[in-house]
This record gives sequence, C-alpha cells and structure tokens, in this order.
Amino acid sequence: MCGVVGFIGKRPCVRTIFEGLQRLEYRGYDSAGIATLSGGKIHTVKSDGKLARLEGHLKDLPQESFMGMGHTRWATHGAPTTQNAHPHVSGDLALIHNGIIENYRELKNELIKDGYSFKSETDSEVVLHLLSRELKSTPKMKDALLKIIARLHGAYGLGIMWAGEPDALYLVKQGSPVVIGTGTDENYFASDALALLPLTKSVIFLNDGEIGRLTKSTVELWDFSGKQLTRVPSVLNWTAASAEKQGYRHYMLKEIHEQPAVIAQTIARLVDSKTGKIDTKEMGIDDLDLSQVKSIVYVACGTAYYSAMISKYCVEQFVGVSVSVELASEFRNRDPYLDKETLVIAVTQSGETADTLACIKHAAAKGCQTFAVCNVRFSSIPRSAKSTLYMEAGPEVGVASTKAFTSMVLCHYLFGLAVAEKKKRVTPEVYGQAIQALKQLPMAVDRAVNAAGLIEDVAAKYYESPNFIFMGRGPSYMIALEGALKLKEVSYIHAEGYAGGELKHGPIALIDRHMPVVAVAPQDFHYEKMISNVEEVRAREGVVIGVGDLNDDKFKSLCRDYIPCPQSSDGALQTILTVIPLQFLAYYIAVKRGTDVDQPRNLAKSVTVE
Ligand code: F6R
Repeated sequence: MCGVVGFIGKRPCVRTIFEGLQRLEYRGYDSAGIATLSGGKIHTVKSDGKLARLEGHLKDLPQESFMGMGHTRWATHGAPTTQNAHPHVSGDLALIHNGIIENYRELKNELIKDGYSFKSETDSEVVLHLLSRELKSTPKMKDALLKIIARLHGAYGLGIMWAGEPDALYLVKQGSPVVIGTGTDENYFASDALALLPLTKSVIFLNDGEIGRLTKSTVELWDFSGKQLTRVPSVLNWTAASAEKQGYRHYMLKEIHEQPAVIAQTIARLVDSKTGKIDTKEMGIDDLDLSQVKSIVYVACGTAYYSAMISKYCVEQFVGVSVSVELASEFRNRDPYLDKETLVIAVTQSGETADTLACIKHAAAKGCQTFAVCNVRFSSIPRSAKSTLYMEAGPEVGVASTKAFTSMVLCHYLFGLAVAEKKKRVTPEVYGQAIQALKQLPMAVDRAVNAAGLIEDVAAKYYESPNFIFMGRGPSYMIALEGALKLKEVSYIHAEGYAGGELKHGPIALIDRHMPVVAVAPQDFHYEKMISNVEEVRAREGVVIGVGDLNDDKFKSLCRDYIPCPQSSDGALQTILTVIPLQFLAYYIAVKRGTDVDQPRNLAKSVTVE
C-alpha cells in the first residue's frame, strides 16, 4: 500500500526523503512524489512508475529545503498517473495520504458545489480541499484538523505541510500506520519504521485517533478530542544493515537464505538450552489465562493464513482444544460466534494487515482473550492484542513472504508445545522428543537451503509452463497451497494447490502431458496415499516434479524431476523443510521469466486497506 515519509530539520532533506521512499519500495506502488516547503512556497515533483523516474525530477526541487514529505502511491481511486500521484497541493497547503476515504464522493460533491475544482481522481484530494476550506475560518492547523476529521470515514495516515506554519509538519492517524522518528535537531515520520532505520531507532507509533505536530526539535501529540498526550519513544531493535540486500540479487533470495539463522535464533531465544524448557514468559503465554480457553480461532491472510492452518497439526494436537483457522477478511465481515472461552490468535508478519487488525479488535470487544504472532514490534496488531509472541525474523522486505512463513510455523509449534506443557497435556517424554526434533531443525533447514542449485536447474526446465498444480496431504497440503501462492505471486504463472485426495473430485480433469504437478510427499503418515495420487497423475501423462526424502527411490522413480528435501520426525516441523524448495522454485522461475521478484505487479507488502 502507499508509503509516506516526512522530514523536518536543519539540513537539506530532498535526498533523505527520496531514500526513505526507496526503503518503502517493497510495499508496492505505482507512482510517487515529493513536496518541500522553502522560501514560503510549496514545491512538488511527481511521476508515474517507479522511483527511478521520480529521481530524474529531484533537481527541480530547491535543494535548500529543510522540510518536506514524500509518497509512494498504490492506486485505489484513479489510475496510477502522475496527475493522481501525491503530494496533492492547493495553494500553500500540501497533503499525502495512505488509506481510503470511504465517503469521498459525498464530500467531493459538496466541495465542487462550493467552487472547489479537483486536479486528480483520488479520494485523498477531498481531504486537502476540506482542510483548505476549514483553514479559512479556523486559522490554526490543529483546530482545523480536529474539525475536518469528524467528517472523514475510512482509514487515513495523513502528512500535511502548510506555508502558514512553515516550521511544522502535521500528521493524523486513523486506521493506517504512522510512526514518528526522533533525531537530534531533526524529526521524521513514515508509514513504516523501516523507512527511518538509518536515521533513528527512537520511534513513537501513533495510535488511531491521534494527531502529531513535528518541528525540528519538538514532537507534540493530541487525541481527536484535542487533549494533549505524552508518549515515551520506543527503541527499534532492527539494524539498518538487516534491511539491505547484503550482496544478494534480490531480497527474496536473501530472505530464503536467512531461514537457517532465523530458525536457529528463534529456538535459542525461546528454548532454554540447559533445561530444554520453552520460555513461556518470552513467548507472551504467561499473560494469558489458559484455564479459561476452550477453543482457539486463528485469523490471518495469505501466507500467514497457510501457516496458521498448520497449527491444526501442532497446536490442536498438543493442546487438545479445537482449533479453527479463518481468513481474516471473511471472519470480520460475518458475525462469528465468539465467547470468553475462545482465544483468538492473529498471525501477521507486518502487524498492520487491516482485516487481521479488525478481527483482533472485534474479538477483544466480544470479551475474548487475544494473542498475536507477529514480526514487527510495536505495530498495530500487537498493540491491540492482549499479548504477543514476536517472531524476531528481522525485516522482511521482499513482497513474497518466505522467512516469515517458516518462522510463523515454528512459533505455532512452540506455542502448542508450551501450552500443552503448562496444561500438563504432554508427558515429559513426548515433550522431550519434541524438543529433540526442534534441536535438529536448524541443521536440516541449512541443508534444505543448500539445495538451491539443483532447483535452479528444475526451474530452467519448466519456467515457460503457463500452469502448475501443487499437491500434498496433511500438513503438506498447506505447503502445496503456499507453493502455488509463491509461484503465482512472483512469476505470474497460474498455479493451484490441492489436497492429494481432492484431485479426483475435479482438478484431475486438468492433467495432461503439458501440466507440471509438484507433488510434496515427505515420509509421513500420508505418504502411501500421496504415492497413489502421483500414480493417478502419471496415468494421465501429467509431469510429476517430486519433493521428498533424499533416499526415497520409489517416489523418485515416479517423477520426471525430483527435489530431495531433509526430513523431520514431526509433521508440522517438516513443513518448514518442504516449503523451502518451493520458495526457491518460485524464485528461480520468476528470475527466468524476468519479473520484478521483490515487488511483483499489483502487490503490496503491507495490506492496510480492506
Ligand atoms: C504472500 C504474502 C501475503 C501476506 C498477507 C498477510 O507471500 O506476503 O499473502 O502473507 O498479505 O500479511 P501479514 O502477514 O503482514 O499480515
């Protein structure tokens, strides 16, 4: 979704703002712009397309500008043109917006009747003109903002610059993320703390219903009733280097390769190496009243949803309560049955996904205990949940989620095991075996990552295929779904994931000698049935690409191509190993097809609109 960045200080800021936007490129966007205020005037440059195009216009801004705002736009209302790009400007006022103004039509009609003309097709421009009109009768910016926000429905993270107050930037947050960064003789804001990483680690995340005013040396905050607020900045624990490519061709490739380290660090952080016990305090579990929990509902979107589905194979089995997994966008738009005995768990890399956030707020309002599994500290979902298990996978910049997925699965496994132990649902023997399986995981993940070269060769054979089917059973069914999602996201190839047992209920009609079928068949309970499904595909001349055990000669002999993968004694942990070849497959196919791997078309990293 849109990215916003703002700067106010004592040094020229155009380059700093542009670099901030570059760090937000991963979020997905289709046009961009920057406005600065200098010499009492607003100056703007905008461009459709990528930032490289905007960069050519930066020379048109006064270089002695000490305050300004930049925006990358992910089009919702109006095509991705220069005209529709932000900042929007009216006279001495400039505005950037991340979110959607739902009642923009009605406001636009009112403003047109009042003589205002619109330069863009965006919903955002109505906020600009509303504010400009209000400032005529309410000449103080804060008061004018308090008046106009009462008229806005929807989600908005706003940045505002006004020549009437040339030493301040204003921010408003409702629904869309806004974070303030504090520096020495300069302050900043952005839609995502990643944008600020090289500038500062001292940040204040605005809550919904808050307004901020930044000067080069002060930060003031108010709520929407106008009451002044005080907030102590939090300290980010990510380094600027962790958000760089570090020599890899793409972020996606870097993040796939980071998985052995992320898995090892997570286990080291959450499992005491001496006692072999999971640290339930660090996991956020001690803040929950488990005696009350009779069922668990997971809510999530996309890849996070598939990770949550794997919790059925660890949390449900370990804890012995019913686990259901819901797409956040569906869950929030019906009236689900929830009671105080339901624990609702949101799973999210970004912590900002609008649908997942709405679910957790709804569950809290219904009196449920709420829990989050999240990667980004201080983001909106952890701030709304009773307690959070932080994944600590480090910044994930590639739009297609990779290390966050494996990290989520590991967190579900640890959560299930820890809760089971607390509730005395596992014997010390079973607990010990599970910890043993965990200890072997980092080495196995390392071996999975080292198979990259072979998968690149497989990708070279199939990258021109217009369709793919992925199939698996049990936990590997989720890996089939995730493998298909990864492939379509980054390569734009049509791909579907199916449960092996479902193939004959319809999808088998698609099989012919042109159809590559990726069969995920580790040596688990479902293995023999998967082999039968592979035979069914072969009988219809389907082209089988197998993902299975290195020593499985039977399966190998049935496949046109075979990707060996390390094995785990636990079905849920096995998914961490079997997804890695599919991440590589999607990546290398995308590279062969020449797509924009890290920022695939139409996608955004952080989906902050419904
Ligand atoms: C897929 C992908 C998306 C996200 C989904 C949820 O590769 O990245 O499907 O998983 O948008 O995002 P988070 O986890 O940030 O809530």
